[in-house]
Amino acid sequence: MINKTNHIPVLLNEAVDFLVRVPSGTYVDGTLGGGGHSYEILKRQDEKGRLLGIDWDDFAISKARKRLRPFENRFVIKKGNFADIKKILAAERISSVDGMLLDLGVSSFQIDTPERGFSYLNSGPLDMRMSDLIEKPALKIINQLSEKELTAIFKDYGEERRSYAIAKTIVKFRQDQEIETTEQLSEIIKSVIPFRYRIKTLARIFQAVRIATNFELDNLKKFLNQSLGLLKKNGRLVIISFHSLEDRVVKEFFVNQANPCVCPPDLPYCACGKKPTVKILTRKPVKPSNREIEENPRCKSSKLRAAEKL
Ligand SMILES: C[S@@+](CC[C@H](N)C(=O)[O-])C[C@H]1O[C@@H](n2cnc3c(N)ncnc32)[C@H](O)[C@@H]1O
Repeated sequence: MINKTNHIPVLLNEAVDFLVRVPSGTYVDGTLGGGGHSYEILKRQDEKGRLLGIDWDDFAISKARKRLRPFENRFVIKKGNFADIKKILAAERISSVDGMLLDLGVSSFQIDTPERGFSYLNSGPLDMRMSDLIEKPALKIINQLSEKELTAIFKDYGEERRSYAIAKTIVKFRQDQEIETTEQLSEIIKSVIPFRYRIKTLARIFQAVRIATNFELDNLKKFLNQSLGLLKKNGRLVIISFHSLEDRVVKEFFVNQANPCVCPPDLPYCACGKKPTVKILTRKPVKPSNREIEENPRCKSSKLRAAEKL
C-alpha cells in the first residue's frame, strides 16, 4: 500500500513565523506527517534547537524520518497520539517547551491511498484509521451502531441535514449484507441524495465517519487541556484546522483562556479572580492566500490560530 503522493505543508511560513521565537528552543510538532512543517522549524533553529515530532502513523513517520535527515541529532520522532502529549514529553524527560504545533487532519498520502479507505473518490475497504493504534475501523461504526447513533455522528461531525435518512438507509441495507467498502457506502448515500447535492453530502458523511473513527475532536480537546501546562512563559501554541468543528474547539479554548473571568457582566469589578493565561495572536484566523489555494487546492478550508502563554 505505498502511495507516492507528497503532502504539501499548509500555511507553512505563517505557522512557523508564529511558532519559532527562540532559535535555541525546544519545539513539538504534534502532527509530523511528511515532516514539512518540522523541516522548516529545524531550519529556523540554531545548533542548540531541538524538535520532538509526533505522529501515530508508521508511514508518516518513515517519510518524515527521511525528510529530516539533514538535521540528524537535533530531532526525536515518537509514535503516539498527541492526546497523550504530557506522557510523551515526560517519557522524553522534557518538562516544558517553547512552542507546539498541530496541523490537524489527514496527510495527502493517507487520503490518496485507496487501501486506507478515506476517500469516496477511490474504491477501498471501509477503514479510515489514521493509525494502527486505533482499534476499530470505520466499517465497525457503519455496521454496528444504531440508527440513532449513526444519525448523531452524521449530524454532529458532518453537519449533514439528511443524516436521519442516510442512517435509516444504511441500517436497512446492512440487514442483508455487511457494508465493507467505500464504494458501497457511497452508493447508499447516493441512493438517498438528489444528484446535485451528492458530492457535498458524500464529503460530509465521509468526514463524519473519519472523525468518529479516529476520535479526532476528543484528541484535540485532550491535547489543548494539557498544552498550557507544558509551555514555557511566552511559549506559543499554533493550530491549523480544516473544518469548522475543529476550528470552533480551538477558538473557544483560546477565548476561554484569554478571558477566563466568570463574573456577571454587570459587576463593576472582577470577583472571581481568574486571570488570563494566554494572549491570542490571531484576532481572526489566518487563511491561505489565493496563490496558495491555486497551488494546493487541499489547503482551501484551512485556518490557523495562534496564542502565547502569559
Ligand atoms: C495534515 S497531516 C500533517 C502534515 C505535516 N504538517 C507536514 O507538513 O507534512 C496530519 C498528520 O497528523 C497525524 N495525526 C492526526 N491525528 C493525530 C493524533 N491524534 N496523534 C498523532 N498524530 C496524528 C496524521 O497521521 C497525519 O500524518
